Amino acid sequence: MIGRLNHVAIAVPDLEAAAAQYRDTLGAEVGPVQEEPDHGVRVVFITLPNTKIELLHPLGDDSPIAGFLAKNPAGGIHHICYEVADIAAARDRLSAQGARVLGSGEPKIGAHGKPVLFLHPKDFNGALVELEEV
Ligand code: CO
Repeated sequence: MIGRLNHVAIAVPDLEAAAAQYRDTLGAEVGPVQEEPDHGVRVVFITLPNTKIELLHPLGDDSPIAGFLAKNPAGGIHHICYEVADIAAARDRLSAQGARVLGSGEPKIGAHGKPVLFLHPKDFNGALVELEEV
């Protein structure tokens, strides 16, 4: 059911410094800062030949990233995103097998303008999983 790895997301304490490190030290193709108020994040996407890296920083007071950075002040891997062809079908299949979908269970529009869902990390070996319909 899951397809390609769409991106790996890393929560960072300083978005501009992390973006500069990927651009200048690692020589990667780094996009602009994007604000995603619906998700409580500021993001920078880094395009690699085979996938993307999503640098995440909190936006607003109730950002889900703020708590993560409080526990991991130096930053850390926050989630991985797999592509699916039909996100509603994927959700129904996962729910039927007991996996918990976070939030209302309805897909939200993610940073790429496509529907996304998140799955509970305790159901997936401690890794927060995002599904994105492509
Ligand atoms: Co993501």
